[in-house]
Amino acid sequence: MFNVAILGFGTVGSGVYKVINDNANVLKKFAGDDINVKYVLDLREFPGNPVEKVLVHDIDIILNDDEVNCVVEVMGGIEPANTFVRRAITRGKSVCTSNKELVAKYGAEILALAKENNVSFLFEASVGGGIPVIRAINESLTADNFDSIAGILNGTTNYILTKMSKEGLSFDEVLKTAQEKGYAERNPEADVEGYDACRKIAILTSLITGKQVDFEDISTEGISHITKEDIYYSNKSGLPLKLLGLMKKKEGKVYAMVAPFMLGDEHTLKDVDGVYNAVNLHGDLLGNVMFYGKGAGSLPTASAVVSDVVEIAKNGNKNIAITWDTEKISLGDMASFNSKYFVRLKVTGKDDELKKAFGDVQFIEPLEGETAFVTANEYSHEMLAELLSAYTVLTTIRIAE
Ligand code: HSE
Repeated sequence: MFNVAILGFGTVGSGVYKVINDNANVLKKFAGDDINVKYVLDLREFPGNPVEKVLVHDIDIILNDDEVNCVVEVMGGIEPANTFVRRAITRGKSVCTSNKELVAKYGAEILALAKENNVSFLFEASVGGGIPVIRAINESLTADNFDSIAGILNGTTNYILTKMSKEGLSFDEVLKTAQEKGYAERNPEADVEGYDACRKIAILTSLITGKQVDFEDISTEGISHITKEDIYYSNKSGLPLKLLGLMKKKEGKVYAMVAPFMLGDEHTLKDVDGVYNAVNLHGDLLGNVMFYGKGAGSLPTASAVVSDVVEIAKNGNKNIAITWDTEKISLGDMASFNSKYFVRLKVTGKDDELKKAFGDVQFIEPLEGETAFVTANEYSHEMLAELLSAYTVLTTIRIAE
């Protein structure tokens, strides 16, 4: 019997509880042992719910029970999750988590602690929900040098952008519907300002480089400023607008960012719509490899969390090595990161002047009183701003090809 304690009985925790109970036969086949939920920790009561039989309110009951092999942390947030996870590890319990804030901030430290205590710390569900991208990076794709990651890492923003594009609605209108349908939080800031995607690209970049990438260092821009008019141009030019988490290695430097991009025809992520997530990695041997699936929700996320539990049980609760050192890397300065751009200006009759400044631009049929084009050359944000200093700039959005 492999005993698990679940910390938190919210959306993900209740999914984990359900999956462990409902899919017991599948889990046993792969784990080679029965997986049992011995405890669920939550501050709340759940009268009439079968979870009552295993519900506790005191973490020490779990930490002091030597029969608990693995702790599933699905509370979210930094504290008390961080303290509980570290205490569990020092008591010889493996931990798996869906908590991207915790993993992005303390992943390297907690992995070192797990190694020291010969237990595992796994976090498949922290990026891309149910998509198995982390195990793929750590176990399946270990022969490649990866020079880029591009990810649609946030379901809420992808849903909003897809809906804006297909229905011609404004950001505020779609956000309201998304909140009503439960696709967006009441406080949507972490999603719509890109903070959630930022933690996720920080985790992926740390795993690819094997070093600590601080999410605070990642240039992050969300989608709350995207307008109906921007979407009109995206549709008109056939360049779908997506919020990307991006990592690129260039001339020995690692660049990482989160920003809205318009995606070119050849881009592997251009048809990823709605609440779906996808991650494309580019390796020197394999070329492009893409993972696609549900990045949020109770059961898709629980699928990834429970796969970690199975992996730990299969490995006899020993340390599963993941290379992510505490040594920090300095990311490349975004001032020297160049892209093609979509540009929207409040001006008319300046096409020739703009062609002189930008060369062979591709103009898009404009809205009244505007000029819009896609550049043929790549610019840094600063270079572009300088070239546009004489105009009233409405929008600039990077193009990813
Ligand atoms: N708020 C996140 C999303 C949930 O919309 O993708 C999963 O991290």
